Amino acid sequence: MNTINNSRRNFIKNTGALALGATLPISLVELAFADSSENFTFAYISDAHIQHIKDNRFVRNWDRGLIRAVAEANLLTPKPDFVMFGGDLAQLGSKPELDHGAEILSALHGEVRYVMGEHDYYLDLGEYWQKLFGPQYYSFDHKGVHFVVLNSIKTFDDWTFKRWPTAEQRMLEMAGLDNPNGSPFMVGDEQRLWLKNDLDKIKKDTPVVVFSHSPLQKIYKGWNFWTEDAEQVQALLKPFDKVSVIYGHVHQIQYNQIGNISFNSVMATSWPWPYPQSYAQAEQYLPKLTVPMNRADPFFERDATGWQFINIANGNADLNFTLYDNSSRIVRYNKKLKRPEDAVYQDEKARIIPQTHY
Ligand SMILES: [Fe+2]
Ligand SMILES: [Fe+2]
Repeated sequence: MNTINNSRRNFIKNTGALALGATLPISLVELAFADSSENFTFAYISDAHIQHIKDNRFVRNWDRGLIRAVAEANLLTPKPDFVMFGGDLAQLGSKPELDHGAEILSALHGEVRYVMGEHDYYLDLGEYWQKLFGPQYYSFDHKGVHFVVLNSIKTFDDWTFKRWPTAEQRMLEMAGLDNPNGSPFMVGDEQRLWLKNDLDKIKKDTPVVVFSHSPLQKIYKGWNFWTEDAEQVQALLKPFDKVSVIYGHVHQIQYNQIGNISFNSVMATSWPWPYPQSYAQAEQYLPKLTVPMNRADPFFERDATGWQFINIANGNADLNFTLYDNSSRIVRYNKKLKRPEDAVYQDEKARIIPQTHY
C-alpha cells in the first residue's frame, strides 16, 4: 500500500464537473488533501442494466444511458484518475449483455474498475464477468487512500445451489425487485475473513472507501435494499477514522451515517426505483410492482435518474443531486443534528415526488 502521512488524509470531497451542465449520469468524487496538489478525482457510473432482446438488438434506452455516461465521463475536467462501474452492467447476466456492456465501457479513457451486481452474477455465478473484468472482490491503494471492492450480492448456498432447476430461473428470481422468491444479499464468511485480513494491514488513520453493489446497511428487506451481514462488515470498518461506503443497486438517492461510516448511493444510468418515502416504515405504502418499470413519474421514463456530486469532508457526506428534468436536491451533513439531511425532502410543500403516483 502507499504510505500515508497525516497531511494527506484531510477529507474526501466532490467537485469538478458542474461546468458540464446538468446532464451527467455519473458521479465525480474528489479526494482532497491538505496539499491540494495531491488531490485526485474518480468518476462513478452504475446500474446500466444492458438488456438483450434478440440477435444484435438491445433495449435502446438502457444502452443510451450508459453510452451517454461514458461520453460525459471522457469529457470530465479534471480527468478522473479512474472510473468505477458500480454493478448491474447486464440485466440477466448473459454473455451478449456483458459483452455489449463491456464494449460500451471500453470507450472510457483510462482505468476502469468494476463492482459485481446481482444482475451480472446469478446466471453463471460471475464466471463470465470475471473473465471480462477480473476478481469479484479486491482492494487497492491510490494516493494514500485504501479502496475496497466487495461482492455484496451473494446469498445463502442453499438458495444459490439447490433451489432452482436452471441457472436462468435462478437469475430471473433474483432479478425481480419485490419477488418473494429472492433471497437476502450478503458479503459472506469467506469475503469477511478476507476483508478482515486486508484491513488488518492498514493504518487506522488511513481513509477507507468501500465500493459495494448492495447497501452495506439494512434499508428494506422486501426489495433487497439489504445486506444480511451488514453489521458484521460495519464492525470491521469501525476502527478506522474515516470510512465511506458508496453503493449502487437502489437506483435512487440514499444517504446515511452509522458511527464513523458515511453511506451514499449513486444514481443509475438506466431507470429509477421509487423513493424511500414510499416504503420507509410504512408497509401499506409499498407499491405493487405489477409494472416492471415502476417509477416516480410514470410519464417520464428517465425520472429520478441523473448524477450527483459527493463531498465527503471530514467523514461527513454532502451530496448534490442533479436529476434529469427535475429539481436539484442537496443532501448535506447537518453538524447540529449529526446526520445527513435533505433540505428539500424535509419540506412537505416542496416535496418533489407526489405520493399519488403509487
Ligand atoms: Fe440495478
Ligand atoms: Fe442490483
